Amino acid sequence: MDGITYGRTLLLCTLLLWVFQVVSSGNVNVVVKPKVEVLKEENASLPCTVTPLTTGTIVEWYIDLGTRTRIAFCQGKEKKVDPGTPLTDRIKIGEDFTLTISSVKPSDELNFTCQVTDPAGSPDGTTSLKVFSAPEHPKLTTSQAITAGIPSSSEVGTCETKNGFPLPRIVWFRDAKPLPEVKDKQEKTYMVAKQVKETSGLITVTSSLYMQPMKEDKDSEFYCTVEYSMPGNKIETMDSNRIKINLNYPSDKIYFSLFNTSQPVKEGDTVTMKCETDGNPQPPFEFTKNGEEAQGKDGLLILKSVKRSDAAQYKCTALDFEIDFTLEKTIALTVDYIDPVKVTPAVSKVVMLGDKAAWQCRIKASRNHTVQWKKGSEVLSQNGTLSIQNVSYQNAGEYVCVGAVPSVPGLMSQASVNLTVKGKPVIDPPAPVKVGKEGDKVTLMCVAYGVPTPNFTWQPSGGEQSITVKGNKWVSTLTLKTTADMINGGVTCEVENEHGKDITVFPLSLEQVIKPDDEKGSQKDEAKRTTGYEDNRANFFFLLDW
Ligand SMILES: *[C@@H]1O[C@H](CO)[C@@H](O)[C@H](O)[C@H]1NC(C)=O
Ligand SMILES: *[C@@H]1O[C@H](CO)[C@@H](O)[C@H](O)[C@H]1NC(C)=O
Ligand SMILES: *[C@@H]1O[C@H](CO)[C@@H](O)[C@H](O)[C@H]1NC(C)=O
Ligand SMILES: *[C@@H]1O[C@H](CO)[C@@H](O)[C@H](O)[C@H]1NC(C)=O
Ligand SMILES: *[C@@H]1O[C@H](CO)[C@@H](O)[C@H](O)[C@H]1NC(C)=O
Ligand SMILES: *[C@@H]1O[C@H](CO)[C@@H](O)[C@H](O)[C@H]1NC(C)=O
Ligand SMILES: *[C@@H]1O[C@H](CO)[C@@H](O)[C@H](O)[C@H]1NC(C)=O
Ligand SMILES: *[C@@H]1O[C@H](CO)[C@@H](O)[C@H](O)[C@H]1NC(C)=O
Repeated sequence: MDGITYGRTLLLCTLLLWVFQVVSSGNVNVVVKPKVEVLKEENASLPCTVTPLTTGTIVEWYIDLGTRTRIAFCQGKEKKVDPGTPLTDRIKIGEDFTLTISSVKPSDELNFTCQVTDPAGSPDGTTSLKVFSAPEHPKLTTSQAITAGIPSSSEVGTCETKNGFPLPRIVWFRDAKPLPEVKDKQEKTYMVAKQVKETSGLITVTSSLYMQPMKEDKDSEFYCTVEYSMPGNKIETMDSNRIKINLNYPSDKIYFSLFNTSQPVKEGDTVTMKCETDGNPQPPFEFTKNGEEAQGKDGLLILKSVKRSDAAQYKCTALDFEIDFTLEKTIALTVDYIDPVKVTPAVSKVVMLGDKAAWQCRIKASRNHTVQWKKGSEVLSQNGTLSIQNVSYQNAGEYVCVGAVPSVPGLMSQASVNLTVKGKPVIDPPAPVKVGKEGDKVTLMCVAYGVPTPNFTWQPSGGEQSITVKGNKWVSTLTLKTTADMINGGVTCEVENEHGKDITVFPLSLEQVIKPDDEKGSQKDEAKRTTGYEDNRANFFFLLDW
């Protein structure tokens, strides 16, 4: 509930707490409320009850504006508002003599007197109208930087709260503790208050806080609170924003460290060294590298893509002239590195089948390192020596030597060589081939290694032939009709190049013939059906897997 809503609620309650002032003169009584409280812009109702009432009774409302001024009256049936008063446009007098003031202003805070004139007596009763308006939220602004520890007071901030009524009060707080109100400018801490009455009649209050802050006050939090009255003798409060003093104080300590830099530092990294002190503002800094001037800016020394030659003693010096001792700090920067991997011999090799191949890999790094020879993901050696005895075609390919410094993530280097194997052809062992019956077409594949390119000779020849390359293998594909000779003697594949030849026989065998009335055969048939085999094998091909 904000101040205004709370105030309104209170007002309603207050209006219910009727307290009457009874004034008697002769036999005539007049009853008014001694006090009516109302929020600005709302309507005020000031009752006046006269007993007994006779036809000759005159009831008049007066206010005191230096002179007693009538604002409205009632005589018999006649009810009139007097012209030319500050209230003329906003008042009404009711049948029961109640004076209603609409849209109350601060200037309406007056004494209203209900004057009765009657042959039997002339009593009067006075109602004091109290007007309330909650001020706006207080705003705390801070001014220029203050120097800590100087022997005169400086303005810490000014607090302003606008448009309150009646006069609101400002209380200062430091770290949630109220500061006693001091007006004496001879004191270290004091406040200077000002109030301005706006044309609306509302009051704007400002208060400036003066202090002699010490360095310890740099983290202190200040704010002000406005205290204001609301109907029903309520005092409400609103807090301002919180501020810290923009305090200047000299440096006592210096800090110099790697900033936003992953460690350990390796070649190629960007290194940022940050220098700062516990003073405010930060003094200018000077950087040196092994005693030589280095270029930094705003307390940061940035080395882009560092090299091992950047490893050095870096020093930051604070140039704070307000202190008579030197503030400086040193960083010993180390830069880890790994040299490009050196492979000897540095060239790819062409080796004859069955010969041997060997390489050496050397690595230089700033710390303990690993060296691995790899082919694909397979690690072949951990000691820098790669040695292959009795080279086979499978050994052909790319070999990579990887150097790494495990204690420095990301620090690695590598080099690769290729091994080419030359020699006579070698045929992969063939799988047995089954054919349905004589005359069926069969496809055979003869897969062989061999460098340089070998030629293929099939026996029997004929049919359809083609040659493809699969990695470092050659594949000759033959499709032909089976004959009885082939089933008895197989099909021969001969592969030859300048280094020699290899020869292999593809044995062909017939699928077992199944008699339909054979019980075992039927069972087999059943099994085959369930495994998805075709009963009719006229077009059944067996493809060699390679
Ligand atoms: C105050 O009085 C005016 C004029 O009589 C009326 O129009 C208005 O509704 C009243 N306001 C309230 C809050 O009663
Ligand atoms: C109203 O009357 C009281 C009592 O006489 C007096 O103290 C007060 O100052 C008067 N208020 C105004 C606004 O004139
Ligand atoms: C930290 O370093 C990264 C990459 O070096 C850079 O992109 C980033 O802006 C830096 N951050 C700060 C706060 O300097
Ligand atoms: C580096 O290697 C040497 C010899 O292999 C070993 O004695 C030493 O502990 C290693 N240092 C680290 C940090 O691993
Ligand atoms: C290097 O390692 C390989 C296999 O890991 C081994 O056969 C060879 O003897 C080692 N060589 C040396 C010089 O240690
Ligand atoms: C070299 O390897 C081939 C094929 O793997 C093998 O037949 C031969 O006996 C091996 N030779 C030696 C000297 O190990
Ligand atoms: C090794 O062979 C691959 C593929 O032919 C090639 O991309 C690569 O550059 C060769 N590497 C060397 C070191 O010759
Ligand atoms: C196959 O190659 C060998 C060696 O290169 C050669 O002697 C032979 O004549 C070739 N055969 C055919 C059929 O081309």
